[in-house]
Amino acid sequence: MRQAGRHFLQIPGPTNVPDRVLRAMAMPTIDHRSAEFGRLGRQVLDGMKTIFKCSGPVFIYPASGTGAWEAALVNTLSPGDQVLMYETGHFATLWKAMAERLGLEPEFMQGDWRAGANPAGIEARLRDDPAHEIKAVCVVHNETSTGCASRIDDIRRAIDAADHPALLMVDTISSLASIDYRQDEWGVDVTVGGSQKGLMLPPGLSFNAVSDKALAAARSARLPRSFWSWDEMIEPNEKGFFPYTPATNLLYGLAEAIDMLHEEGLENVFARHDRHAEATRRAVRAWGLEVFCREPRHYSSSLTAVLMPEGHSADNLRATIVDAFDMALGNGLSKLADRVFRIGHLGDFNDLMLAGTLSGVEMGLELAGVPHEKGGVQAALDRLAEAASSEGTRAAAE
Ligand SMILES: Cc1ncc(COP(=O)(O)O)c(C=O)c1O
Repeated sequence: MRQAGRHFLQIPGPTNVPDRVLRAMAMPTIDHRSAEFGRLGRQVLDGMKTIFKCSGPVFIYPASGTGAWEAALVNTLSPGDQVLMYETGHFATLWKAMAERLGLEPEFMQGDWRAGANPAGIEARLRDDPAHEIKAVCVVHNETSTGCASRIDDIRRAIDAADHPALLMVDTISSLASIDYRQDEWGVDVTVGGSQKGLMLPPGLSFNAVSDKALAAARSARLPRSFWSWDEMIEPNEKGFFPYTPATNLLYGLAEAIDMLHEEGLENVFARHDRHAEATRRAVRAWGLEVFCREPRHYSSSLTAVLMPEGHSADNLRATIVDAFDMALGNGLSKLADRVFRIGHLGDFNDLMLAGTLSGVEMGLELAGVPHEKGGVQAALDRLAEAASSEGTRAAAE
């Protein structure tokens, strides 16, 4: 049966694609070797530097985020290279499995999935590598499977404190344009991004933002690469072109999304995500449920994973909610299957959309017979109203 109204896509990506982006993508496809395309290409290649906050090149692939993971590794590393990766959750585990398949030697620093990466552990491991066998440190900024975000600034400081030359590679697939990120300031060498989350686009584009040090590493890196090769991209990119047929209509959408992010202001975008995350956590606590992330310093602002009470199925709850209210929530992945559900609050999202989302969860808990207290939605509304009123007071004072 047709469900009236807009579907609530509250998984932690892909996210709700705003009408402005959808309309921008509805442009007729143009010749990807024309001057007009070159202007679009330059616009998005330059525009993405403002999102990554970087001065080096950004490479755009017509691929999901997994492609950009591979591009980061194959462009900078050689067969048998040691790579230090941190087990923050499911996505860090997938990246590590990819590194193994590519012929690298990843060392997986163990984590319990309920916090982000531990900088002190990384520092100690790097100090224990005087011969500098470790060529790269790879961290997932926002672990989408757990709702824990690692502190990249602290990890940079840890690498510097150990005085280690390893490249720093960071996956920002579910944090870019949602959680503060500064490629140059934090000395990140390769940042991996994807289109379908904070950037408010459909899936299908992914990114590498690259430092001079990573470009230098690429000159001697020996892993086989062809489609992912930065070398092939640099020259055509200078004029806004690509060495293959690009995803023209997604690039129209990207140009629009970059404009929208700057119209709102990146700092305001981050503050909005922080506010929604805090309101969501208040709801979860008022329901008497547990936020999966245990470390407040690592709370994610783009999603909240919620632990189910023992003996209750997260998948049953999600199925109840999608049937009754046409709202999709994220499932638990690998060892968290059926144990957590994930509320996505990232992308093109506002206070009333969050209120609707949390209302759907609260009603779903009741319908699915999950033990909980009432009042989660009210706790979130109180937080949102308080934030709106202090915002109003600030605006009036200015
Ligand atoms: C943090 C993170 N890394 C990597 C990926 C993989 O990206 P994709 O599914 O776009 O290939 C995802 C997907 O959700 C993700 O959240």
